[in-house]
Amino acid sequence: MVALTAGISVATGVVFSPAGRRRGRGHAAFRCSSSSAGERQALFSRIAPVYDHLNDVLSLGQHRTWKRICVSWSRAKMGDRVLDLCCGSGDLAFLLSQKVGLDGEVMAVDFSSQQLQTAAGRQEQRWKLCYKNIKWIEGDALDLPFTDCYFDAVTVGYGLRNVVDKSKAMQEIYRVLKPGSRASILDFNKSSSLFTASLQSWAIDNVVVPLASGYGLTEEYKYLKSSISQYLTGEELEKLAKEAGFCAAKHYELGGGLMGNLVATR
Ligand SMILES: C[S@@+](CC[C@H](N)C(=O)[O-])C[C@H]1O[C@@H](n2cnc3c(N)ncnc32)[C@H](O)[C@@H]1O
Repeated sequence: MVALTAGISVATGVVFSPAGRRRGRGHAAFRCSSSSAGERQALFSRIAPVYDHLNDVLSLGQHRTWKRICVSWSRAKMGDRVLDLCCGSGDLAFLLSQKVGLDGEVMAVDFSSQQLQTAAGRQEQRWKLCYKNIKWIEGDALDLPFTDCYFDAVTVGYGLRNVVDKSKAMQEIYRVLKPGSRASILDFNKSSSLFTASLQSWAIDNVVVPLASGYGLTEEYKYLKSSISQYLTGEELEKLAKEAGFCAAKHYELGGGLMGNLVATR
């Protein structure tokens, strides 16, 4: 497994283990949970070079607002140790970093080394001191390399939908959170409203996929539609969180119902 800090890739040969868990397993120990997970890992690595740019274009910059909301609802505060799971190129990790400050710590986990390289590169280019508190960690959402009750807050942005076993991922998030702490999980909303679902589907077919085609990423962005249809509604997400052990879970619609954010309290 590889930990990336301030743009320097450190192939440790030892699993990154901030709290001593799973120490001693080598690089080869990192495995995807299924071939389908492997396909998704490859997909996110392919889109990494244009991912940030396309997010801005496709959402007209709105993804920045939704990510701010997600981070704010995690209730991360100064001095906290927090996790941004499925961090991609790091948007939520950078926002969390400002919330927890230099005395805090942000662990940002993703299974795509290309996404993590982009994130580490962005960290190098930024000047705020607090950004030094982020560690980029290559790891699987289904098998987190942290001890139980390790984090004061967890965020996930557009990640849970892409994880093969959502129930297992939710159990892992629950496991690593301290009692009383929150997970804030942002993603596309699988809307129960026929109008919103049709609008979302139309926008993907007629705006998102044609724009992504210009970057040679037609198939990669067609995947978006199937991943939303296979995702969970707000109600189902609340149920999933409660089944994982969370004592409270509430899903909020954002962006006119096109996006959704689950807040779950352990
Ligand atoms: C759509 S991107 C979101 C990135 C970022 N959070 C954002 O909001 O911009 C989804 C990310 O989830 C990661 N991912 C998907 N399944 C994962 C898993 N099982 N473990 C770790 N990362 C995973 C992908 O590599 C990808 O970077």
